[in-house]
Amino acid sequence: MIRVNIAVPPRPYEAVIDSGLLLRAGAHLRAVLGERNRLFLVTVSPVRRKWAKKLLASLATAGFSARIVEMPDGESHKKLATVEQLAEKLSSLGADRNAVVVAFGGGVVGDVAGLLASLYMRGVDVVQLPTTVLAQVDASIGGKTGVNLRAGKNLVGTFHQPRVVLIDPNLLSTLPDREFRAGLYEALKCGVIGNPELFRQFEDHKDKILKRDAEVLEKVIADSVKLKAEVVSADEREGGLRRVLNFGHTIGHALEAETGYRKVLHGEAVAWGMVAVTKIALAMGKIGSVTAGRIADAVLGLGPLPKVDVKPGNIVRRLQADKKTLNGTVHFVLPTDIGKVEVSSHVPENVIAEAVSELRRLSARN
Ligand SMILES: NC(=O)c1ccc[n+]([C@@H]2O[C@H](COP(=O)([O-])OP(=O)(O)OC[C@H]3O[C@@H](n4cnc5c(N)ncnc54)[C@H](O)[C@@H]3O)[C@@H](O)[C@H]2O)c1
Ligand SMILES: [Zn+2]
Repeated sequence: MIRVNIAVPPRPYEAVIDSGLLLRAGAHLRAVLGERNRLFLVTVSPVRRKWAKKLLASLATAGFSARIVEMPDGESHKKLATVEQLAEKLSSLGADRNAVVVAFGGGVVGDVAGLLASLYMRGVDVVQLPTTVLAQVDASIGGKTGVNLRAGKNLVGTFHQPRVVLIDPNLLSTLPDREFRAGLYEALKCGVIGNPELFRQFEDHKDKILKRDAEVLEKVIADSVKLKAEVVSADEREGGLRRVLNFGHTIGHALEAETGYRKVLHGEAVAWGMVAVTKIALAMGKIGSVTAGRIADAVLGLGPLPKVDVKPGNIVRRLQADKKTLNGTVHFVLPTDIGKVEVSSHVPENVIAEAVSELRRLSARN
């Protein structure tokens, strides 16, 4: 078992990482929640069908009364209407200020349940119990909640830190392969921005990671959580430091938007973004070619990525549009070594376009 402290206001909390933790979730929650008994598990059907029985048994043993409140599955339901429906359900089940919301699912559930908890009765406690790689290494840590608007992703949200984050890597055994690998790119990202040892896990133990070997996976997840915890502890909101977590995301977001959020999963877009920004760092003389090659190999080694057949000019135009909404600057997080990055807001457009063309060439070869 690995415990990671996340030191943010109003109170610090822990992420506990342990294979099989689901079966002991009740005892962990009892230690954090004291006398309170009423839990409301926000989840989606695939997670409920595979894992709810075990969780409910563990909660009952610890004396909790838990109710499941299900939301429809998928990013398209990450919207305010869903939050309203869930709030109505909580109210009809008699949830009061002492109620505790448990977010039991991927990043979509985490974001929706977190927002619900921050709004219901002006704020009730939330516990994160993430079930996807992406949610375990990224979305469940740091207290960001949110839903999408038609105009864009995560445009409505709050900061609402959980009381505890319970991470059980065993839950990933039922995750579809593509979802599993998409989340791994965010873990690899953590290695590139701040932990060379984590990066080497991907070079040395790639096969074990892809086979979901419990021991290696637990370490990869724990190291990623530690990295994110360090960053958000130093910088709870979106200041300078938290920006490094956006490695691969500037171009990644543009690729997601350009492909209509359908063809590529978020993690896959970030993977292409990491390759592109590594090419940019190389072109700008910020990183050596051997190190740049190692980063690209590690990303591409995690297996087939969907082809990106986007026009470089369109990506550049999207970044220009972002610039207008982001106080006039688009930040690129450039790798300078394994475990080191530098933030630059001065990347020439032709360099960006060339890096995107390179993605198309790599796509064609894949
Ligand atoms: N709050 C943050 O800081 C933060 C950070 C990164 C991403 N996010 C958000 O996270 C969301 C993406 O999360 P995601 O990638 O986890 O997607 P997701 O929540 O949609 O889950 C992906 C799919 O996997 C299924 N699933 C989940 N756990 C499973 C399991 N154990 N076994 C089988 N199937 C399972 C889900 O039902 C869903 O169909 C995005 O909306 C993104 O904006 C938030
Ligand atoms: Zn991301």
